[in-house]
Amino acid sequence: MLSKRLETVASLVTTDSVIDVGCDHGYLDIYLTLKGIKCLATDVSINALNQAITNFKKYNLDIDTLFTDGLNGIDIKKNDTIVISGMGTDSIIKILNRDINNDLVISSNNHLERLRRYVVSLGYYIDKEVFVMDNNKPYVIIKFKKGKKKYHDYDYIIGPTIKDEDYFNYLKNKYTKILNSIPNNYRDKIKYYQDLINEINIRINNY
Ligand SMILES: C[S@@+](CC[C@H](N)C(=O)[O-])C[C@H]1O[C@@H](n2cnc3c(N)ncnc32)[C@H](O)[C@@H]1O
Repeated sequence: MLSKRLETVASLVTTDSVIDVGCDHGYLDIYLTLKGIKCLATDVSINALNQAITNFKKYNLDIDTLFTDGLNGIDIKKNDTIVISGMGTDSIIKILNRDINNDLVISSNNHLERLRRYVVSLGYYIDKEVFVMDNNKPYVIIKFKKGKKKYHDYDYIIGPTIKDEDYFNYLKNKYTKILNSIPNNYRDKIKYYQDLINEINIRINNY
């Protein structure tokens, strides 16, 4: 049974082959393979990869695997979507240290503003983002494609493509809590969060 988060990751794959970096249990690869998508399941942990291999055998699926750190040693084909999911932005940035042009589907656990800025600096644009609550935890899954688009600072913080009431409410709650916890003398910080909440309100009114 695939989590809502991984189902969302899978829904953003539009090519017929995937490199799943950090596959862990391999559930995503099982799901995608059953849908006819060819997967290479990789992990830097041999225990995780062995668990994935055990799971593949249970489903009688012949899925390629590779024990490696990030994209090291992977023969990346033009049509491969690279999935990096369930890690922090720092790890994801380290993994993206190769010159690549492939579609990327990324589910980071943190620092989404930094992630967006970094991947855009590599010559990508944000094609689609999906907000999903899974086990009461919020996730934004981002699909990047190679190409250029101009972004405002708020696009990196909020995300340029999401038009989802639940997402906007989640963000407003989060930033309102932060705003209410800032001491009165931190004027710049207060203004930053007030402006951010205003921007979210503008987006709510415009979608
Ligand atoms: C929390 S699990 C996420 C599993 C799955 N991708 C998901 O989204 O549910 C993170 C996995 O990434 C692997 N990992 C972390 N850093 C990695 C790297 N540099 N290269 C490959 N795998 C890595 C870990 O060993 C672990 O199995």
